[in-house]
Amino acid sequence: MPALACCVDAATFPPGYAIVAGDSSLPVVLPEAFSDAPLLPLTNTTVASSLLELPLPSPWSPSHSASLYKINGWGAPYFSVNSSGNITVRPHGLETLPHQEIDLMKVVKKVSEPKSRGGLGLQLPLIVRLPDVLKNRLQSLQSAFDFAIQSQSYGSRYQGVYPVKCNQDRYMVEDIVEFGTPYRFGLEAGSKPELLLAMSCLCKGNPEALLICNGYKDAEYISLALAARKLALNTVIVLEQEEELDLVIEMSKKLAVRPVIGMRAKLRTKHAGHFGATSGEKGKFGLNTMQILRVAKKLEQNGMLDCLQLLHFHIGSQIPSTSLLADGVGEATQIYCELVRLGAAMRVIDVGGGLGIDYDGSQSPDSDNSVGYGLEEYASAVVQSIRNACDRKFVKHPVICSESGRALVSHHSVLIFEAVSASAPVAPTLDSLGLGLHYLANGLTDDSLSDYRSLTAAAVRGDYETCLVYADQLKQRCVDQFKEGSLSLEHLASIDNISELVSKAIGTSDPVRTYHVNLSVFTSVPDFWGIGQQFPIVPIQRLDEKPVVKGVLSDLTCDSDGKVDKFIGGETSLPLHELEGEGGILGSGGGAGYYLGMFLGGAYQEALGGLHNLFGGPSVVRVSQSDGPHSFAVTRAVPGLSCGEVLRVMQHEPEMMFETLKHRVEECIHGEDSDDDELARDTLVSGLARSFHNMPYLANIATAASFYEKKNNDNGGGDYYGDYYPDEDYNNNSVAAVVGEEDEHWTYCVA
Ligand SMILES: Cc1ncc(COP(=O)(O)O)c(C=O)c1O
Repeated sequence: MPALACCVDAATFPPGYAIVAGDSSLPVVLPEAFSDAPLLPLTNTTVASSLLELPLPSPWSPSHSASLYKINGWGAPYFSVNSSGNITVRPHGLETLPHQEIDLMKVVKKVSEPKSRGGLGLQLPLIVRLPDVLKNRLQSLQSAFDFAIQSQSYGSRYQGVYPVKCNQDRYMVEDIVEFGTPYRFGLEAGSKPELLLAMSCLCKGNPEALLICNGYKDAEYISLALAARKLALNTVIVLEQEEELDLVIEMSKKLAVRPVIGMRAKLRTKHAGHFGATSGEKGKFGLNTMQILRVAKKLEQNGMLDCLQLLHFHIGSQIPSTSLLADGVGEATQIYCELVRLGAAMRVIDVGGGLGIDYDGSQSPDSDNSVGYGLEEYASAVVQSIRNACDRKFVKHPVICSESGRALVSHHSVLIFEAVSASAPVAPTLDSLGLGLHYLANGLTDDSLSDYRSLTAAAVRGDYETCLVYADQLKQRCVDQFKEGSLSLEHLASIDNISELVSKAIGTSDPVRTYHVNLSVFTSVPDFWGIGQQFPIVPIQRLDEKPVVKGVLSDLTCDSDGKVDKFIGGETSLPLHELEGEGGILGSGGGAGYYLGMFLGGAYQEALGGLHNLFGGPSVVRVSQSDGPHSFAVTRAVPGLSCGEVLRVMQHEPEMMFETLKHRVEECIHGEDSDDDELARDTLVSGLARSFHNMPYLANIATAASFYEKKNNDNGGGDYYGDYYPDEDYNNNSVAAVVGEEDEHWTYCVA
């Protein structure tokens, strides 16, 4: 077979064969000519496996995957791999019994399958919320402080608050209040709407739970906080700026409410990483020493020094080490003690947020993706620093409050999304385009043909560097000719193809492949885009198989930033498996879907996510451990925003848009007004209606095809698009379902 023909037409080198030059214009292939060369035999599997530089064949087991993806590091004690190769959730952490583990693939199946097949009919991407994990985190945090307090004979207690900015999801906040009630666990708000939600949630909480009011405040915010005190909520107004004090004094007199006041101190202690930008003397928030003194004085002058009861500080999120933490807590406690000396009725020291989590499993204090301590060490360092400073000044030990957000909620949420396609492992053949060697040879200029012959001659000699030089030269020449208009698109494609084959064969091409994922990075992983935060991302199935591809993830948005190409451990690609068949629920070939999970994203991602390209949020399900045969129950299911809903956020009016389009359909399909025309009109209108109701993400083939199907139960003549949308699978705004009964019976009720 001529080499070029092999190269161009077959697009794969038979193992042990390579391209060599012949004496004619059409080179030939000589067996074993490249036998010493670092050639990749260009079949999908072998190329892919060589990319990971892992010897084949080798035994592979789920535990290999667990260590490859460092699951035991970042995931313990909540995530592991089961013997089927799927990621499982251990909802009660270390106390989880084997039969209580939740297989995430089973959750995906139940949630994404159509209702006709017993599923919930929700579209991906999907957030799986795990309230049991949330409860376990809260209890673990409380236990860590209780233990430190007890073992260090500390004279007061720990009483945490959850900063709702981390994730304001109603059900999650309600869970925290409920789970925290035995511990007087409270909430922190940073804005008026956050305060409103905290007030209403805490009406069901422990009456002693703190309601910490942070953030910049106007008279309205302060009035609201004072109203909260009237409602017997244990509210503390924390001054972020000195000017807020005048408003607090004025409004409290006006409303006849005795306020409880806190101050946020601007500490000298500074944390160096990204998350420490607001700390230190030049930090954005808090009062410096002069301002603290002025506030104390003014309160005294107004007979309100007894109202000053709390000192707050926040060094920054993801505090890397306990030494930095102890430094900050020690400094703040000195201020606390000074305020006691000045006569304030100090009661609480609020150490802010900053309790970090280990995103990469390295337990290292040297990056924003990890921290060098666990819950116990954190609590111990806080308690010890406060106790030491207070004891030195003979000050009564205060109640310790922390505003730990990231550490509390990150683990409870898993984002699941599907890879729908991947870039080709090897250059495709040109056969499919009917482009043969003769076609190519006829179209090239003499210079290009000469480059081509030199390229093949270099290949025969095994001189790969020269090979590449000629391949590049040939390509550049052809690109120039194409730009001038003297080369056809087919010829340019052939040359691109040859060039790709050569670099793949020689091993200089980028082995990393692109996996296209049904996700918006801007909506669901905004911290990756915004601040380079890395989250553990792992296939949630096939972990009993060796991943043979290195990939990066490219999202649906038309923005080059919409990709994930940095992974935990400093990796620039992720080990992945070859996609099977023609894709999963999105494909037509019935192949298994390939699902990836992004873990530890429960804090900040949902609140910060935007609507780039009008992709709204994922569907959300709340999954609890259940003692039924399937070990889990879906207790709430909410589809992501529909196209109509995201359009409405931008002030479009989906109903009017639909009417406009419907009118246009009637104008365009009028004809003889036959039955056929009427059917065509109704079908099109019904498809348009469906598009407003479906989520913006890629839908499976069946959903897309239904655009042109007129539903049997359509009434065909509704006045607004709601009449056209009887589809149960995507129409329920909120469904509660219980999975876990015998025979997989599901019960639904509209929440
Ligand atoms: C004042 C304040 N408290 C608490 C938090 C929560 O911090 P983390 O999520 O690191 O616990 C933040 C976040 O930066 C904050 O600004």
